[in-house]
Amino acid sequence: MPTLTWPTKSLPDPLPADLILEALTYPQGHGYPQGASSPEALPENHLYLGDNLKVMAALLPQYEGRIDLIYADPPFFTNKRYPARIGRGEDSRRPQEWQLAEGYADHWPDIDAYLDFLYPRLALMHRLLAPTGALYLHLDWHADAYARLLLDEIFGRERLLNEIVWLYHGPSPIRRAFNRKHDILLVYTKSGDYTFNADAVREPYNPNTVKTFNSSPKAGFGKIPNLARGKVPEDWWYFPVVARLHNERTGYPTQKPESLLERILLASSNPGELVADFFCGSGTLPLVAARLGRRFLACDVTWRAVHTSRVRLLEGGQPFTLQREAAIQIPLSPATLDFQLANRTILLDKPPALDYWEVDPAWDGITFKSAMQARRPVRSGDIPLKLELPGAPKNVCIRAITVDGEQIQMGLNV
Ligand SMILES: C[S@@+](CC[C@H](N)C(=O)[O-])C[C@H]1O[C@@H](n2cnc3c(N)ncnc32)[C@H](O)[C@@H]1O
Repeated sequence: MPTLTWPTKSLPDPLPADLILEALTYPQGHGYPQGASSPEALPENHLYLGDNLKVMAALLPQYEGRIDLIYADPPFFTNKRYPARIGRGEDSRRPQEWQLAEGYADHWPDIDAYLDFLYPRLALMHRLLAPTGALYLHLDWHADAYARLLLDEIFGRERLLNEIVWLYHGPSPIRRAFNRKHDILLVYTKSGDYTFNADAVREPYNPNTVKTFNSSPKAGFGKIPNLARGKVPEDWWYFPVVARLHNERTGYPTQKPESLLERILLASSNPGELVADFFCGSGTLPLVAARLGRRFLACDVTWRAVHTSRVRLLEGGQPFTLQREAAIQIPLSPATLDFQLANRTILLDKPPALDYWEVDPAWDGITFKSAMQARRPVRSGDIPLKLELPGAPKNVCIRAITVDGEQIQMGLNV
């Protein structure tokens, strides 16, 4: 079998990350433990800030062979930098006026360096997958051909289930080639016995097809499909890009549409199963997974991505832990917060520009248990400055994140 080689190709044993439990988040108090928390009470969903090579290595003892579905949307080898938009209510047609912050970089000295990055991570994902699991690797023309050879080697050529083409459209500066408007998802299964829920992803037949079958019983060479049940989608999918989906936009670059992830999750996982995204960016996969009743592991190496995911996961309604690699610090702000506490109501007084704030009403000085949260509205408007606590406050701790992504922490002993 042909294999891909390059001078630095190797699979060293990765060093596991030293993970620190930063916070437990109970979206709007959902699942918040009213008594003292015990290890059994830990949420089943986890968000990690760290290099996924080390994070995945740290997860092996607990999760090897136990993840039912992995979606991976790594940098594509575009050699670009992707800033994040952090402003609100800006005119989309005037990019020069957008308020930007660092997003993530997709910069490589050469293709060898990129393959050195991708290969060991794909190998770890293979180890983490359950025997019935599948990996969806999302790339485009820059590196998909190389990745396919790597996956053939790691999974076996016969384990390629689909090569899915995601089609979209939008403006492009290209004038001397056809507009590049599709991505590739390479789907590999761990074994021949894999989950595929055809009925969960059926879609209506094209009205012309229905008309043809209804008018001529000989259409389709005598085989009449179950028109009412709908069809299993082809391996080319059209979903609009997030730039066109105003309700989904977080400002995080290269965010993927929820509908794309929904189809993947419905087809290749079941409710209650464990799914993972170790390049989670704005958190699209964990959010859709939470909505569909799947448990999730999600990771990103940038604080902006993890913070964006954390805020977005409030919509998922499921409690989750936030853990970070000890070597990566959350940026701290020198600003302070003034607040008042009246019974169960916390009121912030003239805070700096905030993106998010949360309250632990019974701070134990070790693990922050976020019982209530407020976020800056996604389109326009101001962040709420008042939060109602679910229980009587004891030792109140507030954590806030400024629009620039820096954290402020304040305590109040009641
Ligand atoms: C294409 S984006 C993912 C977008 C995501 N699917 C979404 O819908 O928002 C790729 C992400 O991989 C992250 N990344 C790059 N290197 C990483 C690493 N070593 N460990 C974890 N995440 C990494 C980047 O920070 C970036 O957020």
